[in-house]
Amino acid sequence: MDRILVTGGAGFIGSNFVHHLVVRTDARVTVLDKMTYAASPAALEELPADRVRLVVGDVADAAVVEPLVADHDIVVHFAAESHNDNSLNDPAPFVQTNLVGTFTILEAVRKAGVRLHHVSTDEVYGDLELDDPARFTEATPYQPSSPYSASKAGSDHLVRAWVRSFGVQATISNCSNNYGPWQHVEKFIPRQITNVIDGGRPKLYGAGLNVRDWIHTEDHSSAVRTVLERGRIGETYLIGADGERNNLDVVRMILRHFGRPEDDFDHVTDRAGHDLRYAIDSTKLRTELGWQPMYDDFEAGLAATIAWYQQHEDWWRPAKEQTEAKYAAVGK
Ligand code: NAD
Ligand code: DAU
Repeated sequence: MDRILVTGGAGFIGSNFVHHLVVRTDARVTVLDKMTYAASPAALEELPADRVRLVVGDVADAAVVEPLVADHDIVVHFAAESHNDNSLNDPAPFVQTNLVGTFTILEAVRKAGVRLHHVSTDEVYGDLELDDPARFTEATPYQPSSPYSASKAGSDHLVRAWVRSFGVQATISNCSNNYGPWQHVEKFIPRQITNVIDGGRPKLYGAGLNVRDWIHTEDHSSAVRTVLERGRIGETYLIGADGERNNLDVVRMILRHFGRPEDDFDHVTDRAGHDLRYAIDSTKLRTELGWQPMYDDFEAGLAATIAWYQQHEDWWRPAKEQTEAKYAAVGK
């Protein structure tokens, strides 16, 4: 691992991954990021300047992407529009960044002969019933529900087509719901933590019975690094840490942590087309590549994340009011 280009490296998972690379490898890292509302310059500030540099640009802009890709050994592609609720309000940027952006990256790695790892989501598989013992595997058929998940599903298909038709050297990973530091306050866990810090009430969509399979973002980083080091070209690996919880349980856990009554939350308008349950079977990654998550206690990981938000109010405060105003406008 020498020169690694990380797209979306100023976002939640991308910035945690850049930290991971700096601590765990000798790589020199370039972050290519458009610095949208979801980017955090502060997340990159303390990194050594001789190891990490930031290029502000759009992954859908071939004039920026092609020379940059040609100058690196590996591209790890995190850049995306990532929030389902935003994709329901305005799908256009999701099609542009997630599909056209991935196409642009693929053409650049094809021309330069550079290895690509494409970061994707378990949402491409649609959802499972609450009482279904099944979990997603690499063989589960694609059935995305939202404009966001459809755009990610399309990006995965593009990567597979470029591998098969053009011999592009690429791997794909599909991960479950991440939590941890630097996650935008629009997302479920940071939204509820910061509501409670502000003395407000958590907001549960519908009955709160929808299940997500939580993984700490540091475990996502170690899994992606494992695929970079030992993954087989052309293969897909599912990443998950056996963290299934329903949203109601997570909200109650947060309220308990703050010493608030467990029923001190609001039910709000449900998300249109809301996926019921995600669950990942990560056997392939664990048995073939020997990966293991480090965070196996969700409640402890959540407590550490709450402490992080308590200590980083300067970072999240500017986004909080505007985010809540957007939710309030649609009854959420
Ligand atoms: P995020 O929204 O926090 O960060 C996305 C980053 O991409 C931001 O820094 C943003 O500025 C950048 N970006 C957006 N459009 C861009 C463009 N056109 N050109 C360059 N940069 C652009 O997202 P995240 O939660 O960190 O997700 C990162 C990746 O991981 C995405 O591909 C997402 O689909 C995938 N993923 C996320 C989760 C999760 O739980 N959050 C789980 C599985 C997979
Ligand atoms: O599964 C991986 C996906 O996880 C990623 O691909 C996405 O980028 C990431 O945003 C996440 O998608 P979700 O839609 O599952 O995450 P979100 O944090 O938006 O919501 C988690 C659950 O909580 C979901 O069932 C909706 C619910 N929810 C969300 C918010 C913001 C609430 O009940 N209340 C809320 O205020």
